[in-house]
Amino acid sequence: MTNPAPRPVLELSGIDKRFFGVSVLQQVGLRLYPGEVHALMGQNGAGKSTLIKVLTGVHAADGGAMSLDGQPVRPGSPQQAQALGISTVYQEVNLCPNLSVAENIFAGRYPRLGALGAWRIDWAGMNRQARELLARLNLDINVTRTLSSYSVAVQQMVAIARALSVEAKVLILDEPTSSLDTGEVQRLFDVLRRLRDEGLAILFVTHFLEQVYAISDRITVLRNGTLVGEYPVAQLGPKALIAAMVGRELAEGQSVNPVPDDQRERVPVVSTTALSQRGQLQPIDIELCAGEVVGLGGLLGSGRTELARLLFGLASPDGGEVRVRGQAARITNPAEAVRHGLALCPEDRKTDGIVAELSVRENIILALQARAGLRRCLSDAQQKALAEKYVKALGIKTNDVETPIGLLSGGNQQKALLARWLATDPSLLILDEPTRGIDVAAKQEIMDEILRLAQGGMAVLFISSEMSEVVRVSHRIVVLRDRNKVGELPAGSGEQAVYHLIAEETT
Ligand SMILES: Nc1ncnc2c1ncn2[C@@H]1O[C@H](COP(=O)(O)OP(=O)(O)OP(=O)(O)O)[C@@H](O)[C@H]1O
Ligand SMILES: [Mg+2]
Repeated sequence: MTNPAPRPVLELSGIDKRFFGVSVLQQVGLRLYPGEVHALMGQNGAGKSTLIKVLTGVHAADGGAMSLDGQPVRPGSPQQAQALGISTVYQEVNLCPNLSVAENIFAGRYPRLGALGAWRIDWAGMNRQARELLARLNLDINVTRTLSSYSVAVQQMVAIARALSVEAKVLILDEPTSSLDTGEVQRLFDVLRRLRDEGLAILFVTHFLEQVYAISDRITVLRNGTLVGEYPVAQLGPKALIAAMVGRELAEGQSVNPVPDDQRERVPVVSTTALSQRGQLQPIDIELCAGEVVGLGGLLGSGRTELARLLFGLASPDGGEVRVRGQAARITNPAEAVRHGLALCPEDRKTDGIVAELSVRENIILALQARAGLRRCLSDAQQKALAEKYVKALGIKTNDVETPIGLLSGGNQQKALLARWLATDPSLLILDEPTRGIDVAAKQEIMDEILRLAQGGMAVLFISSEMSEVVRVSHRIVVLRDRNKVGELPAGSGEQAVYHLIAEETT
């Protein structure tokens, strides 16, 4: 966008927000113009979601002003914000898993039949409209099935469709792409570009820097609850953007193409022969050795998560064998996997992960305590020390380990979930998308931490949709395609080599 309209459609100025006396936003301003995509950037805990919740009436600001089309407004609830024309997809998608896809899209405003619209719900009409909305996102699914029967990615798309279903002047998307694959992101971006061209103002949060440059016109950067600046995208390249977010230039991490130690004896911690699950995974041989990070290269649906679930006892194999330290093992549930020294950090922190009401400390010690059993409870002091150790090591932003984890920012919850599994000091650590929702600086720290753990003798299976991360951190890359292992690549292989193997025709 070269010529911004003369007046912002939405303007915030001098916004202050405190929680329990702790200041989270100080004098923050934001200007959204009609017909622009505006990226709101900042590290985990910088205050992005809080700012969004203030402007959509989830939280009341402690100071500052807001105007819409030049008129002062102060929405007291998300419903009021929506009535004013502000449509939002929050970071923690809050849909109802037991309702149908269509019901989720129209919850609270079902179309009705009858003279005054007061008769009965127009189910057929609702389902048809839901199908039409999803078609805009190129999604052809059965809208009468329950939402929970679909993947996280589809659920995210449904949340977006819901936001698109109302007439709005401002559309706000807080990390809408975290679970989407490249194709889905493209489709979403096509829709966003169209809406922008129709004059909508779009505010967009993401930790994927390429996406910022693919879609946005302007960028606002927050750091530690303060406004760093507002920039046209052409004036803020990726390096400068990171520096603005972090407050310093980011040093190159150590996590660059680790070279395997040839001297070291290869000791398999877990190995499989012809391990398979009908419809999910073709027979696979894989060896995971102490001191080694094995990356899984493959596209969404290639069988990466399925392999992780089989190894961890979350799914049962139809054939093949698993050996743990050379001994045949039948792992039929996660508790057994943990007893064998395995850990799995799952991809969906909301459904498989954090317990929002429990404290950061309780969330971190959860898996360790389960392994130790109730008879051998960790003392309070031990628990606190352990939790504090990981809060420091992973840079989890919280005032206190007794804070309910639900009050942490999304990225910081993700770090605490990783800490839970690190605390079990496993011999094999399986990481399924561990850096989802994590900011650029923290991503690098986490990759360095993974390499340090491997150096200390841990075996690591690393799954990430970001191929650049896989090639950076892995000593060996196992490539999957269509639920089949199609090859292995050594450390130092580039992203292209992995994509090449994925794309190669089977002969
Ligand atoms: N309801 C709340 N009560 C107390 N503290 C809160 C609450 N909501 C947010 N915070 C704190 O405010 C700070 C900013 O959180 P916010 O969720 O806005 O960060 P964010 O920029 O969205 O980060 P992320 O990239 O991880 O999503 C964090 O330190 C968080 O712990
Ligand atoms: Mg957030």
